[in-house]
Amino acid sequence: MYSEYQHLIDLSDYPVSWWKKVVELGEKIYQSPADYAHVCDGKIMATLFYEPSTRTQMSFQTAMIRLGGQIIGFDNPANSSVSKGETIKDTTKIVSNYADVLVMRHPVAGAAKAASLTTDCSVINAGDGGHLHPTQTLTDLLTLKIEKQTLSGLTIGMCGDLLNGRTVHSLCKALSQFENNKFIFMSTPELRMPAYIKDIIKASGSVYEEVNTIEEVIDKLDVLYMTRIQQERFASVEEYLAQKDTYVLDAEKMKGAKKDMIVMHPLPRVDEITIEVDDDARAMYFKQAKYGMYVRMALIMTILSEKKSSETLKGKVYTGVRCDNPRCITNHEEYLPKSFRFSRDETLLECEYCDERKLI
Ligand code: NCD
Repeated sequence: MYSEYQHLIDLSDYPVSWWKKVVELGEKIYQSPADYAHVCDGKIMATLFYEPSTRTQMSFQTAMIRLGGQIIGFDNPANSSVSKGETIKDTTKIVSNYADVLVMRHPVAGAAKAASLTTDCSVINAGDGGHLHPTQTLTDLLTLKIEKQTLSGLTIGMCGDLLNGRTVHSLCKALSQFENNKFIFMSTPELRMPAYIKDIIKASGSVYEEVNTIEEVIDKLDVLYMTRIQQERFASVEEYLAQKDTYVLDAEKMKGAKKDMIVMHPLPRVDEITIEVDDDARAMYFKQAKYGMYVRMALIMTILSEKKSSETLKGKVYTGVRCDNPRCITNHEEYLPKSFRFSRDETLLECEYCDERKLI
C-alpha cells in the first residue's frame, strides 16, 4: 500500500543517511535557530495526543512555532469526537485536511501507522503504546552527537522497563545500525527487552548482555539510559508495585561510573534517578529534552520539504489471521487490513503494526 505523503512511523523505514541528515540539521538549528524562523511560514501542524505528554507535545508545538508555522490539535481526546466513538481513521482523515503535518501519540501500538494509511497529509509517530518512539530517538541521537561526539563504538546501558519502553526499543533499533555499539540491559526478568529487538541487534552484528543490577556494570558504560517503570502499561496495580523502585540511580552509584559517562532519560522521572544526581555534570536529561525541540524542528522541515510518497504496508494481508497482541491497533479498529511480514528466519509472522510475532 502506498500513501502520497511522507510519514515518520519508524526510523527503520528510512536509511541511516536520512536520520543522520535530520540530526545534522538539528545541530545546525541548535547553533543558529534564528536562521530558521520563517521556513514554515503559512504551514499548520496538528498535534493529536490521545495519551498524556509534556515534553513531546510541547517540543513539537514550540518547534513549529519557532519555524514560523502554526498549531492546532487536542491533548485530551475526551474533548474531541473521539469521546463519541469516532475511529482513528475518521479523526485523522478529517484533521489531515486542515493541517500539513499531523503529530500523533496514542496508547495503542501501531496507531500512527494505521492513521498514515488514509490521511491526506504526513503523519509523525510521537509514541504508539509500548511500541516505538522515533522522535525521542532522534532527540537521543542529537544528544549523543553533541555530548559524546559519536554515535559509534559506545557501550550503552539501558535500565528499567525495557519490555514496555518504546523509547529504548526505538533507540536500540537505531544505535545497532552504527558500528561497534554494545548494549547492556538492566532489568528484572519480567521486564526484559523484547525478543524481536534483540534479534535486530544480533542481525546487525552488535552485541548485548542482560544483567540484573546497575552496580555490576556501571563502570563499563559510556551512556546510562534510565527509564521509568510505566504504571500505565501494566495489567494490574499489583504487577506495577512488584516492579516499582527496583532501580534507583543515586550519587553513590554514580561514584562507580566513568568520569565521562552521561546519564540520559526521556523523562518524566518518577524516582529512578535521585534529585542529587541532577547536580552531577554527567546528568544530561534536561539538556536532552532541549535538544529534542531542535531535532523536531529539523524533522518538521525535512518532512515538509521533501514531500515524498511512502510505502505504508509492505507485508502480505491475510484475511482470517489476527495479531495476538491485545494492545495492537488491529484489535481495536476492525477495518484495518491485517498485514504481516515474515521474520528473518522465516519461521514466524510479524504484525506490521506492532511487531508481535506468531507461529505460521
Ligand atoms: C517517554 C514516553 O512517552 O514514551 N517520554 C517522552 O516521550 N519524553 C517516556 C515515559 O513516558 O516514561
